[in-house]
Amino acid sequence: KKVVLAYSGGLDTSVILKWLIETYKCEVIAVTADLGQPEDLTGVEEKALKTGASKAYVLDLREEMAKDFVFPMMRGAARYENRYLLGTSIARPLIAKALVDIARKEGADAVAHGATGKGNDQVRFEFAVSALAPDLKVIAPWREWDLMSRTALTAFAAKHGIHISSEAKRYSMDANMMHTSFEGSELENPGSAPDASCHQRCVPVEEAPDTPEIISVDFEQGNPVAVNGQRLSPAAIIKTLSEMAGRNGIGRDDMVENRFVGMKCRGVYENPAGTLLFALHRDLEGICMDRELLGIRDMLAVRYSQCVYNGFWYSPERETMQAFMDKSQECVTGTVRAKLYKGGVWPLARTSPNSLFSEDLATFEGGNYDHKDAAGFIRLNSLRLRLHAAVQSKLGK
Ligand code: ARG
Ligand code: SIN
Repeated sequence: KKVVLAYSGGLDTSVILKWLIETYKCEVIAVTADLGQPEDLTGVEEKALKTGASKAYVLDLREEMAKDFVFPMMRGAARYENRYLLGTSIARPLIAKALVDIARKEGADAVAHGATGKGNDQVRFEFAVSALAPDLKVIAPWREWDLMSRTALTAFAAKHGIHISSEAKRYSMDANMMHTSFEGSELENPGSAPDASCHQRCVPVEEAPDTPEIISVDFEQGNPVAVNGQRLSPAAIIKTLSEMAGRNGIGRDDMVENRFVGMKCRGVYENPAGTLLFALHRDLEGICMDRELLGIRDMLAVRYSQCVYNGFWYSPERETMQAFMDKSQECVTGTVRAKLYKGGVWPLARTSPNSLFSEDLATFEGGNYDHKDAAGFIRLNSLRLRLHAAVQSKLGK
């Protein structure tokens, strides 16, 4: 029996590693994904082997995450419940894919993850595995074992010589190139404000610089390709923008969202690059996306976001919506210049070779526009309103 485990090197997944060996008498292969999270991954491989893994992989998935997951999601203008930029949600299908790839390579029978039985992450991992490798078994120790409390977990770790880092973590966190999420602790009460320690990559606005930072981002077919005129790889763009936005206090959100499994949950998110890109991308669409297309896209973006949040990345509906989203971006090419200042993104100027903006039309000075046409336009479009009004007055309303 061989099990491939999504391993972060933290306390939970270290305990899981040992627990799997004990419980399933299996060989465990640890897989750690480098998704651009701030944590230093040096030593993770060694730690996995020391804890009992037969093999340990550390996979650099940064470019794949940016290019094949984050960018497509941005082309879909995804924001769950109009706020959450899906920083954790989008990483799960990629991690699941990596687990499946290694499971195939190693001829494993199962994959395992450290998500709890109360959250969205278990659903996302397992939906993705179902779609990619329906024959693989999934083991979710949190739903099986009796180590339900931190104390039980720590005791198990101590008994098995697993190193417990001295700074006990206050929050349940998840981080990658896009975001850091904070849940738990005082945040469990939506009526209480976050502690000062609930900050990782966005400076508090009060501490942001007093001088604005002016930046420009180039987009090609909805994808960011350059910052301040310099072309960068997808992961490098995200890293660069993440730092720029973060030092200006841009990208924090504190919200209550609806989990797929049913309960409401309060989280604090720091997504500097996503917040900045969402604003700039939408601004560019202002000049190069057709009105009706924009309206339909915005409606579909609601459903698309639910797909990503609920873990249906590998699904016929997400893939079909993606085709629409990608088509919608064909003309979204150009440059946006913006001011970053104390938590805010202020677009200053936008240009596009595909601009639909006509100065000639906008100036009221004639050109290709006859004011008299408007009279017929108004008459016909208001015909139904006049018919409706006539019936209303007949009914005495
Ligand atoms: N509530 C967010 C989501 O569902 C963040 C989840 C964070 N996950 C974690 N393992 N700490 O996407
Ligand atoms: C977890 O419960 O494992 C993290 C939170 C979530 O999945 O929503």
